[in-house]
Amino acid sequence: MAAAAGPRLLPLLLLLLQLLAAAASGVTYDHRSLVISGRRRLLISASIHYPRSVPAMWPKLVAEAKDGGADCIETYVFWNGHETAPGKYYFEERFDLVQFARVVKDAGLYLMLRIGPFVAAEWNFGGVPAWLHYIPGTVFRTNNEPFKSHMKSFTTKIVDMMKEERFFASQGGHIILAQIENEYGYYQQAYGAGGKAYAMWAGSMALAQNTGVPWIMCQQYDVPDHVINTCNSFYCDQFKPNLPTQPKIWTENWPGWFQTFGESNPHRPPEDVAFSVARFFGKGGSVQNYYVYHGGTNFDRTAGGPFITTSYDYDAPIDEYGLKRLPKWAHLKELHKSIKLCEHSLLSGNSTLLSLGPQQEADVYTDHSGGCVAFLANIDSEKDNVVAFRNRQYDLPAWSVSILPDCENVVFNTAKVRSQTLMVDMVPETLQASIPHQWSIFTERIGIWDKNDFVRNEFVDHINTTKDSTDYLWHTTSFDVDKSYPASGNHPILNIGSKGHAVHAFLNNMLIGSAYGNGSESSFSVHMPINLKAGKNEIALLSMTVGLKSAGPYYEWVGAGLTSVNISGMKNGTIDLSSNNWAYKIGLEGEHYGLFKPDQGNNQRWRPQSEPPKHQPLTWYKVNVDVPQGDDPVGLDMQSMGKGLVWLNGNAIGRYWPRTSPTDDRCTPSCDYRGKFSPDKCRAGCGKPTQRWYHVPRSWFHPSGNTLVVFEEQGGDPTKITFSRRVATSVCSFVSENYPSIDLESWDKSISDGNPVAAKVELSCPKGKNISSVKFASFGDPSGTCRSYQQGSCHHPDSLSVVEKACLNINSCTVSLSDEGFGEDPCPGVTKTLAIEADCS
Ligand SMILES: *[C@@H]1O[C@H](CO)[C@@H](O)[C@H](O)[C@H]1NC(C)=O
Ligand SMILES: *[C@@H]1O[C@H](CO)[C@@H](O)[C@H](O)[C@H]1NC(C)=O
Ligand SMILES: *[C@@H]1O[C@H](CO)[C@@H](O)[C@H](O)[C@H]1NC(C)=O
Ligand SMILES: *[C@@H]1O[C@H](CO)[C@@H](O)[C@H](O)[C@H]1NC(C)=O
Ligand SMILES: *[C@@H]1O[C@H](CO)[C@@H](O)[C@H](O)[C@H]1NC(C)=O
Ligand SMILES: *[C@@H]1O[C@H](CO)[C@@H](O)[C@H](O)[C@H]1NC(C)=O
Repeated sequence: MAAAAGPRLLPLLLLLLQLLAAAASGVTYDHRSLVISGRRRLLISASIHYPRSVPAMWPKLVAEAKDGGADCIETYVFWNGHETAPGKYYFEERFDLVQFARVVKDAGLYLMLRIGPFVAAEWNFGGVPAWLHYIPGTVFRTNNEPFKSHMKSFTTKIVDMMKEERFFASQGGHIILAQIENEYGYYQQAYGAGGKAYAMWAGSMALAQNTGVPWIMCQQYDVPDHVINTCNSFYCDQFKPNLPTQPKIWTENWPGWFQTFGESNPHRPPEDVAFSVARFFGKGGSVQNYYVYHGGTNFDRTAGGPFITTSYDYDAPIDEYGLKRLPKWAHLKELHKSIKLCEHSLLSGNSTLLSLGPQQEADVYTDHSGGCVAFLANIDSEKDNVVAFRNRQYDLPAWSVSILPDCENVVFNTAKVRSQTLMVDMVPETLQASIPHQWSIFTERIGIWDKNDFVRNEFVDHINTTKDSTDYLWHTTSFDVDKSYPASGNHPILNIGSKGHAVHAFLNNMLIGSAYGNGSESSFSVHMPINLKAGKNEIALLSMTVGLKSAGPYYEWVGAGLTSVNISGMKNGTIDLSSNNWAYKIGLEGEHYGLFKPDQGNNQRWRPQSEPPKHQPLTWYKVNVDVPQGDDPVGLDMQSMGKGLVWLNGNAIGRYWPRTSPTDDRCTPSCDYRGKFSPDKCRAGCGKPTQRWYHVPRSWFHPSGNTLVVFEEQGGDPTKITFSRRVATSVCSFVSENYPSIDLESWDKSISDGNPVAAKVELSCPKGKNISSVKFASFGDPSGTCRSYQQGSCHHPDSLSVVEKACLNINSCTVSLSDEGFGEDPCPGVTKTLAIEADCS
């Protein structure tokens, strides 16, 4: 019997086991949290966008996120990178979504898949393929059949790919959440009844995909039941989901901000990021995602716009180049550990809110097993405070939260940064040490090359014309000036009006000027004094897009390009050229030939030069370059150049444009973390190039025979282009006696010991480097920030020797604030700080 029954029963049994396993590993939720494999969970999640790095970087980025305390990786899915033409898909290289998901799985982390497929994300056209705009009758993100049908096909395609790999948690995989649409709530009203219908359709379409994991819609007040709405903001502690049966989820906590060409560089202080996270979990939050944990690079022409920079560094915990940003990364890691110590009571306990002062409060959670955790907050943005809680005194710096996993001992305060600061510099390398004089050039014709594409007596919309196949659109016209010119009284001015984004103006084959909009306003008008000649004058205008808009109501209808051109200041009035005969040409000749491609096909077009021409507009440069030594990440220094595009070995590094940012008062030498953050706070680099260095992934280099191709629009000095290695050169630390000193790794042990541990400074150079000199050391009341510390009125005379003894010529060291070298108290009654700056080499 057994032998006979086996073959029939076994498959059934296996099926039953599989079903049980699926149910056990599935994801549901209640009012408190997601429930994974039957257990409530607090989750720290980290956004890493796969096409903003390269596959060779993925394992390390994911490992750094895991090491930083992430349970989960989050990514958008980038539709226009995948569906390059209707029904034509691309999933290779940076766009190998399955491989990225596998890297996350292999690291043992969960995955949150925000399919969108509209994503915004400062990504070109918000992620929607440009071709979809040109399918007749299509309107994006509303109750529109062509849009919905393409959105549904793509969503289904992605879900099916994930199902095929058995990636959903319901299949035993690691995808625990999926998102449809993105921040639609901001704009739904603008779409009227169609907006509401679309939001409901999107949610229902997602639910019908049957993934077995919950769907979310972020910043969306109107969602079908069973879809969870979530929060995106700098702070989400006050957020409440639509339904009381749903958990509080924060899909985007912005640890910094993106950059636009022509603007300075925003920073969000780690103390404030930590404050926002601690407030969120203290107030019942259950999933918190850093958008972004690694921002990376907008390679090629993927940057959204207009004017989003090629760098998408975002001041994230891992920098654009894949290096941990300290202290931010490490401060948040300690925060995550501290929150995890509280997980059980937070998830199973009852919460009580206690007032501890006018702007001070405690969120206390007690559970059945006697556990108690407390989050003590001082939300005063100026004054430090001492609060009493359960008969003890706690000092709470302004705008900070202390975490007490036992309602007694502080393991973490958001404003007391114990971690070291790592200072990173771009160290220049020569571009070609071993292979000099290997330049070749190709000069674009000014104006129409080959034949024009069409002639019109008016201006056409730029984006409608290029359909984003290129940034560039030529317009040329000519006009006659009579023989009596120049007569006195003529002061001609060329006036150009444009909807955006940028233009270079040429008169009689000379570049006479350039103009651009800026971050908040893409349109511009420009007035250039010119010299005309008697007879025929030729005007050639190169109009450019710098990334298509990535969000906003009806954003796909926002055009670009020239709107009016005339010459004023003539004795006899204004010459209006707007309705002249304009000849149009889409794209550049060099793009048409694919000059950036590594193959030999274009060899005869390139002209070898021993010295490349400088300050010459519309020039393509090709040069053989050496591989920068070592394995540090590499940036290409383009400070000597104007604006253009650059490739290494055929890989598009992206747009470069070291456009100078304005000098304004948003750049302050020191940044006050206290008070509500906004992107205008704590900027750096005012009056400097917005983006000087462009990330070139190491994996794009060959061992030898590397080719850099640059297309320069305005003119620059290509001989000054260099690679730079991104190198950690020094470390700093600033720790006070009253900083939490409990070792989070052995929390249980440290409290049962009952012995107070003194605060300590830990310094560590990158692997392979030692602390080579101590630049500053003061035990007393020093002040300032890394690389500009200053001694205060209290300073232990042996500070330097104590630190040198402990730290010199080794990779890492620890100096306790109770070190016997500091035996003599330099100033009794004063809270002492140990500040150190040291070089690594
Ligand atoms: C939490 O509150 C509920 C309802 O008031 C009560 O039934 C439960 O016992 C409380 N749990 C604890 C751990 O205090
Ligand atoms: C004014 O003078 C310019 C330059 O000679 C000529 O091209 C244009 O047609 C004249 N405009 C009028 C309105 O006469
Ligand atoms: C000339 O061009 C400028 C900028 O494009 C525009 O603002 C102005 O109205 C034009 N003037 C005339 C008289 O057409
Ligand atoms: C950007 O352009 C707008 C409109 O032309 C102008 O008001 C604003 O001052 C400009 N901002 C900067 C930072 O240049
Ligand atoms: C682009 O072309 C379409 C179709 O002709 C038109 O409806 C739309 O207004 C144009 N867009 C702009 C920005 O001009
Ligand atoms: C760093 O110090 C260690 C221990 O003193 C030594 O073995 C090693 O060679 C040093 N490394 C460098 C790069 O100086």
